[in-house]
Amino acid sequence: MPRDRAHDGPTMLVWDAPVRVFHWLLVLCFAGAWLTADSERWRLAHITLGYTSAALVGFRLLWGLVGTRYARFASFVRGPRAAWAYLRSLPGTRPRHYVGHNPAGALAIVALLGLVLATSALGWAVEADFGGDWFAELHEGAASLMLGIAALHVLGVAIGSLIHRENLVRAMIDGRKRTEPGEGIRRPWRPLAMLMLAAVLVFWALQWQGPDGSFARSIREVAARLP
Ligand code: HEM
Ligand code: HEM
Repeated sequence: MPRDRAHDGPTMLVWDAPVRVFHWLLVLCFAGAWLTADSERWRLAHITLGYTSAALVGFRLLWGLVGTRYARFASFVRGPRAAWAYLRSLPGTRPRHYVGHNPAGALAIVALLGLVLATSALGWAVEADFGGDWFAELHEGAASLMLGIAALHVLGVAIGSLIHRENLVRAMIDGRKRTEPGEGIRRPWRPLAMLMLAAVLVFWALQWQGPDGSFARSIREVAARLP
């Protein structure tokens, strides 16, 4: 439920560990995919980071259905009217405040999740040589759109932090926000976050061995040995 300001009380756990690890890994992959986009030499790193971000989003979609209170899509995805009402309240004396994602931030989040999947699928189509330059253009276009929305997202985080006088970036790191005791989540789900991090590191290690030792090849080799 929206309130008109952040609470003054003690801090409560709001973001579980999987949401936080997901977020910062996604930021890392996104930045890395951009840094490696231009060069043939870094292509495998680029593809690895792209696939990792797609897998992270796959996990997040599931967690959005079965995860903790503020991680669930049902708790924060609201639509353009709610986003507009929230944005209109910001310049006033009583800006609406949400414990989880606000409805405007939620629009950017949904767009970013969708664009990660679209960009990665298009990148795969380029790599598989499906349709000449078309897919390469679309892939780059989707990546650029994502960059624009990510910039708006970071601007929104900065503005929201100032207006509500709460450090949203710190909350995405330690998971905690000032709110009423009943509004916090109970379990941080740390083992699940560790598992996710471990899976990502194993995938990177396999890819690190180069195209011949790549993940796809390992899977093929294992599959070939099956009866
Ligand atoms: C350094 C740059 C970034 C910072 C400081 C940042 C910060 C944040 C913060 C503070 C939140 C929580 C917002 C809230 O309290 O409502 C958030 C959520 C989110 N951000 Fe970012 N962000 C950054 C870059 C990105 C990028 C590049 C992407 C995607 C390509 C991204 C995707 C998301 C998503 C999907 C969420 C929702 C998290 C969840 O519920 O799982 N962010 N970000
Ligand atoms: C978050 C994910 C991704 C982002 C942000 C991203 C971004 C980009 C960008 C901006 C370019 C254009 C580079 C340039 O020519 O100036 C590019 C090129 C490319 N990307 Fe990605 N990419 C992602 C995922 C992937 C994936 C998963 C694959 C393959 C499986 C892939 C394969 C390629 C290839 C083959 C090119 C070269 C296209 C060409 O020939 O022009 N990318 N990527």
